[in-house]
Amino acid sequence: MRRDIERVLIPRQRIAERVRELAARLAADLTTALAEDGVAEPEGHIVLLPIMTGAMVFTGDLIREIPMKLSIELVAVTSYPGRSLESKGAAMEAELPDTFEGRHVVVIDDILDSGRTMQLVQRLIADRSPASVRTMVLLDKPARRAVEIKADYVGFEVPDEFVVGYGLDFDGYYRNLPDIATLRHDITGAEAPA
Ligand code: IMP
Ligand code: MG
Repeated sequence: MRRDIERVLIPRQRIAERVRELAARLAADLTTALAEDGVAEPEGHIVLLPIMTGAMVFTGDLIREIPMKLSIELVAVTSYPGRSLESKGAAMEAELPDTFEGRHVVVIDDILDSGRTMQLVQRLIADRSPASVRTMVLLDKPARRAVEIKADYVGFEVPDEFVVGYGLDFDGYYRNLPDIATLRHDITGAEAPA
């Protein structure tokens, strides 16, 4: 696995630091939101919604830095069917649970690329009368945006290169890489940049 890597873009220590910062900001914002609602206890009011499978590792680290009572629902969206570097649009893999009404929902993904995945989930949640919807992504690749969307919380902006690790895959592999890295071009089949 290691020998397929071209370059480490974000080493694990920087990811860990940034995840702690994001968690602190989110926790503070949710605390403020609950206070504004006049709610004393977060129990029953906060739902995190990681988009599977890419957001799995990020969410696992993030939630352990948020000292509040929260629940987690999983959602699966397909956007890279099969072996491909190009987003072909987004589709839900299953019905969303119907548990968002009146709750503060945080949609979490590994990366905001074309933006279609996040936009789809955000819209579906917004239709279910939540108290609020926030979006958080570890990575943002603004160069590839196809729809107008911005995430409320962004870990790192990355250049227009295909990245793997810390949950992000190529062809289903490399999710367990602890760092965020690019792959050798002979692995991805992508043209090497000039
Ligand atoms: P979007 O719908 O184009 O924004 O794509 C978002 C999804 O595509 C993410 O949930 C990722 O699973 C996947 N994706 C986008 N860019 C990359 C990348 O550079 N590496 C790995 N997966 C990516
Ligand atoms: Mg994904």
